[in-house]
Amino acid sequence: MVKAVVLYNSRTGNTKKVAKKIAEGLGVESFDKKKIPDLQDFELVVLGSWVIMGRISFGGARYLRRIRKKLASKKVALFFTSAGPDEIHWKTEKTVPRTIGELMFESMERIINQNQNVTVLQERFYCKGYIKFGGQEDNIGHPTDEELEQAKAFGEQLKGILEA
Ligand SMILES: Cc1cc2nc3c(=O)[nH]c(=O)nc-3n(C[C@H](O)[C@H](O)[C@H](O)COP(=O)(O)O)c2cc1C
Repeated sequence: MVKAVVLYNSRTGNTKKVAKKIAEGLGVESFDKKKIPDLQDFELVVLGSWVIMGRISFGGARYLRRIRKKLASKKVALFFTSAGPDEIHWKTEKTVPRTIGELMFESMERIINQNQNVTVLQERFYCKGYIKFGGQEDNIGHPTDEELEQAKAFGEQLKGILEA
């Protein structure tokens, strides 16, 4: 069996749904940030979070900081959900335009790489998530069944890497 685990934080359930599908593809379990198991035995740790105001959610940043020391010498794969992962982050509009996705992965990596010997895989996943905020709804139906199948395929891809 693949020695991997999927961890996530999720406020409204989008990231949780994706985490479960990635875990299904890998054939392993997924855990909310409040129930993180002992990571010692895992070769691959898949880490997920979501975006708030163009950056990693506060709960996401906190749990990554909390576990980063335990990731030494492991492989890590990253994923997230957000309203507009491919949109240009407003802070970069007037300089070098960067997408929310690029900045999100960068900030997740920055957190876990500190003082660590971690291998962050190039394989990553993101998709849109439903949002309801200030009385407005957007991305109704996301993550869609298709996106969830892509998440499962991502898990299968990671499994292939571990087994290679
Ligand atoms: C207060 C708030 C601010 C958000 N800000 C952004 C944002 O700046 N950019 C973005 O792409 N998505 C933004 N989102 C959307 C969330 O990232 C998206 O709904 C995500 O899928 C939520 O994940 P969850 O359901 O796992 O909590 C925001 C959501 C909330 C509630």
